[in-house]
Amino acid sequence: MIRRSDFPKNFCFGTATASYQIEGAADEDGRGPSIWDVFSHMPGKTFNDETGDIACDHYHRYKEDVQIMKDIGLDAYRFSISWPRVMPDGKSINQKGIDFYNRLVDELLEAGITPFVTLYHWDLPYALHEKGGWLNPDIAMYFRAYATFMFDELGDRVKHWITLNEPWCSSFLGYFMGEHAPGHQNLQEALITTHNLLRAHGYAVQSFREEVKDGEVGLTNVVMKIEPGDSRPESFFVASLVDKIVNAWFHDPVIFGSYPEEVVKTYSEKGLQVPLDDFSIISNPIDFFGVNYYTRTLVVYDENDPLGFSYAQGDLPKTDMGWEIYPQGLFDMLVNLKERYRLPLYITENGIAGPDKVENGRVSDTYRIEYLEKHFEKVLEAIEAGVDVRGYFIWSLMDNFEWAHGYSKRFGIVYIDYNTQKRILKDSAMWLKEFLRS
Ligand code: FCB
Repeated sequence: MIRRSDFPKNFCFGTATASYQIEGAADEDGRGPSIWDVFSHMPGKTFNDETGDIACDHYHRYKEDVQIMKDIGLDAYRFSISWPRVMPDGKSINQKGIDFYNRLVDELLEAGITPFVTLYHWDLPYALHEKGGWLNPDIAMYFRAYATFMFDELGDRVKHWITLNEPWCSSFLGYFMGEHAPGHQNLQEALITTHNLLRAHGYAVQSFREEVKDGEVGLTNVVMKIEPGDSRPESFFVASLVDKIVNAWFHDPVIFGSYPEEVVKTYSEKGLQVPLDDFSIISNPIDFFGVNYYTRTLVVYDENDPLGFSYAQGDLPKTDMGWEIYPQGLFDMLVNLKERYRLPLYITENGIAGPDKVENGRVSDTYRIEYLEKHFEKVLEAIEAGVDVRGYFIWSLMDNFEWAHGYSKRFGIVYIDYNTQKRILKDSAMWLKEFLRS
């Protein structure tokens, strides 16, 4: 059985959340609307038209939530700042908003929990969206100003920063597939927004070096293990291309200062413009990559698709999200990232949604314990194979608003009863507590 003491001494275990998914208090204390407030209020965009208006009411219950983390014995907590809470119009300061994050950080430090702050986890101020949002190149300067303000406010106490969470989702799910806010469906727009997200990231890193001398900053990407879904050589070829489209496209510019050539060629052949400026900003050196890993993705050659591939179903056991459970993919991707980029890594998200129910005051999520244990083992194997992995954050501390799926997917190690806002530690939380003591 795996034990905490098998991991390096400074390795940290934490949980992760994001502002719009947990905070609620959408109209309180001067918070402005984000693209997710507007999107989730449009009929048909989320499961049962659910919104983050109340969510887990964490804005009012953060003390209880910090206490829960302390009781479990967690070392660290990754949360995100709601940009429209601290800057309702994207640029003017809302003191009450910043006060909340100051209180939260102090509460965490008091409890002996190290804060890891993400600046952008998808809730763009709607006022900036009206100016063109991520399509507007000026967004990078707005983001820089916001980041600088946050570094100034919290940088004395927060030493671990993540600029963006999963730019692939912001750009591709938000501007190409239309599943996330703002719900556009235009591949050209996804390429422009990717580039502006990466520019924003680079400017924030530049500012970080000036503002926080004794901290570390990185970028979190969703890391997908892409595999061919059948044995045709064409499927192997597209699997390698898709790996570059979803993974290297978001890592290479930040480290090497360029997009993968093969993908630039593929897009250009389709008549798409790939923005190619500001790479010196984008590749400002960072301290680590954040890895969000959930599953593998199978692709097969498809001559009818404009990019030549379609997704295939695998036959491994699946989670409530329909995602295959594939711990080996985490090991493989950690090794790949190490070999290609040679940077320290944190697993900033990993976890599983399942059909959790309270029975006699208890939630028996044995499947989640198994999932976590298997993934912990793979992290340990990667460390033993020489990968510099420094921490692991479970998605998520508590059940929350799972974007387009509303409240139908439960990822937490803590159960939320949305009628009463009661928090109930699931069996996985109890197991984690024991593990952290071991
Ligand atoms: C990730 C997101 C996170 C959560 C998990 C399940 O892509 O970063 O907010 O939705 O998936």
